[in-house]
Amino acid sequence: MSHLQASNLFSVKDRVVVITGGGSGLGRIMTKALDANEVSKIFILGRREDALQETISQSINGTVIPIICDITSKKSLEEAYKAVAAQTTHIDLLIANSGIMGPSMKPPQPAADGSLPPLSQIRDKLFSVPMDEFNKVLNVNVTGSYYTILAFLPLLEAANKRRPAPRAGVVGAPTAQVIITSSVAGYARNVSFSFAFNASKSATTQLVKILSTSFAYYSIRVNGLSPGLYYSDMATHVFQDASIPGQAIEDGSFPREMIPATRGGSEGDMGGLIVWLASNSGGYINGNILVTDGGRISIVPASY
Ligand SMILES: NC(=O)c1ccc[n+]([C@@H]2O[C@H](COP(=O)([O-])OP(=O)(O)OC[C@H]3O[C@@H](n4cnc5c(N)ncnc54)[C@H](OP(=O)(O)O)[C@@H]3O)[C@@H](O)[C@H]2O)c1
Repeated sequence: MSHLQASNLFSVKDRVVVITGGGSGLGRIMTKALDANEVSKIFILGRREDALQETISQSINGTVIPIICDITSKKSLEEAYKAVAAQTTHIDLLIANSGIMGPSMKPPQPAADGSLPPLSQIRDKLFSVPMDEFNKVLNVNVTGSYYTILAFLPLLEAANKRRPAPRAGVVGAPTAQVIITSSVAGYARNVSFSFAFNASKSATTQLVKILSTSFAYYSIRVNGLSPGLYYSDMATHVFQDASIPGQAIEDGSFPREMIPATRGGSEGDMGGLIVWLASNSGGYINGNILVTDGGRISIVPASY
């Protein structure tokens, strides 16, 4: 068999993975894809036991292990780390995926006739959002992701220590990797979800950069994913606001001026991406942020 066949290039066999937010949405898709491709174990972290169990029931190979964890608590992260460390000697991949949208804090948009709401109205609406609500978004998306990564560093380092000594002419197995789920909202000034969410995802994107540089000396790779629109609990209201019914994964579901691919992201889009990043052929990727948005940030107008 050629080393260039897909089964070799994209093998994730026997990898050990930890993912936060594995009980729903993108985390559930990534879990199902990695399980289906025969990772050894995938630990899914989240606060809701029933959500984690639902992911397990949708996974086919029995590799998924639930761990209750609140990523905004260092104590909870320490306990999750101990629970994982009791069941594996190492982890090859940590996916810091948990996140929240927080309260609606959209920038003002001109009406169809071009008129703008009075600034005082905008100010009152935005100022009425408690600071705690704004901070909560930063706390989960940025601080929580950061402490999740710190918590699991010893098990990532342990994965690197298991790598065989280099052999002439042979490409070694990928080094340990962290993947952080960011968002296209972190780049685009005209993807108007919420001031707190957009700011948090810019910070998350920056975390990918600074952590990939910092941990390069330890052979721990750090990459990021920036999804556009995938149907999930968090994204439901975006679909509803744009009057898009269902999961909208068929061509023509979205107007081209909103998403050039004319559809939302699918399980295959996200599943394929995570399997590739986790696989042998993803081993040369470090410090990257991969945008998976059907072309959305290239084109989205301010009204969306
Ligand atoms: N869907 C999209 O179109 C899209 C686009 C861009 C970026 N993203 C990003 O993708 C990631 C996953 O979001 P999603 O779309 O899949 O939405 P989702 O279904 O709402 O998933 C969010 C997950 O985060 C977990 N979570 C929230 N707070 C947590 C906490 N304090 N501790 C531990 N886990 C926590 C939730 O689990 P529990 O409630 O059980 O704790 C849940 O499983 C997020 O980072 C999001 O910003 C999504």
